[in-house]
Amino acid sequence: MNNYNIGILPGDGTGPEVVREGLKVLAAASKKFGFSVESETFDLGAERYKKTGETLPDYEIERIKTKQALLLGAIGHPDVKPGILEKGILLNLRFTLDQYINLRPVKLYPGVDTPLKNKGPDDIDFAVVRENTEGLYAGVGGTFKKGTPDEIAIQESINTRKGVERCIRFAFEYCRKRNKRKKLTLCGKTNVLTYAFDLWERAFYEIAKEYPGIQTDYAHVDATSMWIVKNPEFFDVIVTDNMFGDIITDIGAVIQGGLGVAAGGNINPEGVSMFEPIGGSAPKYTGKNVINPVAAIASVQMMLEYLGEVQAAEAVEKAIMKVVIRLDSMSAGKMGYSTTEVGDMAASYI
Ligand code: IPM
Ligand code: MN
Repeated sequence: MNNYNIGILPGDGTGPEVVREGLKVLAAASKKFGFSVESETFDLGAERYKKTGETLPDYEIERIKTKQALLLGAIGHPDVKPGILEKGILLNLRFTLDQYINLRPVKLYPGVDTPLKNKGPDDIDFAVVRENTEGLYAGVGGTFKKGTPDEIAIQESINTRKGVERCIRFAFEYCRKRNKRKKLTLCGKTNVLTYAFDLWERAFYEIAKEYPGIQTDYAHVDATSMWIVKNPEFFDVIVTDNMFGDIITDIGAVIQGGLGVAAGGNINPEGVSMFEPIGGSAPKYTGKNVINPVAAIASVQMMLEYLGEVQAAEAVEKAIMKVVIRLDSMSAGKMGYSTTEVGDMAASYI
């Protein structure tokens, strides 16, 4: 019997509530498909920071590195200055574990409302491969004469040949495996960011030669944002840098039903990957049992797929599809069911 050793990072706000439901579904899947899961919970987030001043101590990273995969709830709390937990925990994990891909599927399930007029599940089914360790997120830059009228702030976008290439190669491989429209779109800004996206564009078309079965396309990020809203059916897989990927995947999330359903994977194909609902900690709903756990359940689905439990992953997706059709809305407090009821329902469908 396969046994998986996973790390659980419930995090802040409603994170623990949605993770609990994800684990319920994971337990049901392990029973049904005959694998076992050993999990260890890591106390990281606002509460610990407020008590001890620690975000992600080295010894915790060392323990986290021994896991086969990680499931994260959410990081962020109104009492803590923006940036401390996000950079100290979430980005720190992505960078330290070299999770160089942020994979974000955008799929509208039947019965889920989309704000797009005349678009349905046949039109909204693509995935974004976001570079996850470089770009504007690298933290390169600084300030000069801070607080004076002559103040200067510089924040540089780092694009390495290695980082760009491995991201693009992952996207081609993923597009091939996904086996849908076999089209990979590079999303950039070659008309203005003529250094960064020149590198991306050259790497993209060079690597494309290794994938003759995949159609390539290019769109600027502004146009991509427009097309995602106007004609989402144009897209199969989109590959882009860290910042653009951050922005366009929020647009993606809203057209697939919102942050209640959108999940993503921070992937290091050779290391430890981390799966998370892409919404935040939604602090105002904490403890109310009204938050939508579907995104956390979808994170479990992605984790199972990554671990190689493909049948279990498919069963979780089917369960999600049966659940969402019964919910009045994907929004917190408007589902017609509580957080725990939605988790119970999904687990029972497994
Ligand atoms: C995301 C989030 C993070 C990001 C924040 C919380 C640092 O918005 O996962 O998309 O910008 O990557
Ligand atoms: Mn984001």
